[in-house]
Amino acid sequence: MPHARVLEGRNVLLTGASAGLGLHFANTLAQAGAKLALGARRVERLDALSAELRKGGAQVEPVALDVTDAKSVVAAIDKAETALGPLDVLVNNAGVASPKWIVDTTEADYDMIMDTNAKGAWLVAQEVGRRMIARKKGGQIVNIASMGGLIPSRHLGAYGMSKAAAIHMTKAMALEWARHGINVNAICPGYVSTEMNGEFFASDEGKKFVATFLRRRLMDPKDLDGPLLMLASAASRALTGSVIACDDAQGFTLY
Ligand SMILES: NC(=O)c1ccc[n+]([C@@H]2O[C@H](COP(=O)([O-])OP(=O)(O)OC[C@H]3O[C@@H](n4cnc5c(N)ncnc54)[C@H](OP(=O)(O)O)[C@@H]3O)[C@@H](O)[C@H]2O)c1
Repeated sequence: MPHARVLEGRNVLLTGASAGLGLHFANTLAQAGAKLALGARRVERLDALSAELRKGGAQVEPVALDVTDAKSVVAAIDKAETALGPLDVLVNNAGVASPKWIVDTTEADYDMIMDTNAKGAWLVAQEVGRRMIARKKGGQIVNIASMGGLIPSRHLGAYGMSKAAAIHMTKAMALEWARHGINVNAICPGYVSTEMNGEFFASDEGKKFVATFLRRRLMDPKDLDGPLLMLASAASRALTGSVIACDDAQGFTLY
């Protein structure tokens, strides 16, 4: 079913748009009428996705973005705003995982995960928030956290810490920016097969893991569209600092 155009005319920056959930969200947001800036490091993928979305009538701007680099973050947001106009919405989705037992996690693994999922998410939200505050027109920030930030999961110690940081950041920004009309919320997805984890879920071990879920299935990226569009649109006027677990009941059995 096509999405109602609840984001008609709104300028949205989506990070991590070159793969997985971000690629799906780009389609969802475009269908809902958003004008889109798509950020990631693999720009050739963003170019291809932008060309596809433009065929459907969307206004889309690909922007090179490395969320771990503050200069890249500012340059990407500058480029997005030059192309589209002031940002109304940020979907802070870029993220990485490197599943390992805690004892096997190296300092380099830890830095990569925290630099991307915690510091990177912070840098992007901070810069977008600064500009929203200066313009005095409010806005919406949707952070894509994870059930791993709420519940400890095997092999995801450092990842879970980074997502717990993103969840706390969501609440801290919601608190400080409420008076500026900026709503900051988080979605905690359950497992969806993407580049991040597809190999594992295709393996026998992965299939056994999924068989322990109450619904015996992975989520579909479409399952996240409802919370995403609600939090990115005017429907969330009084929702801020919320952390929405959207996990198809996986969390009950994750330990
Ligand atoms: N899949 C799941 O089961 C699941 C569950 C819960 C939460 N999540 C969260 O959902 C988000 C998307 O994950 P996914 O499953 O779609 O993963 P994915 O398929 O691996 O895609 C990750 C995206 O993040 C981008 N990215 C990574 N590092 C970046 C950096 N330094 N700068 C800019 N962009 C960067 C990648 O683009 P480039 O490599 O081109 O830069 C890519 O577009 C992540 O935050 C993840 O933690 C996923």
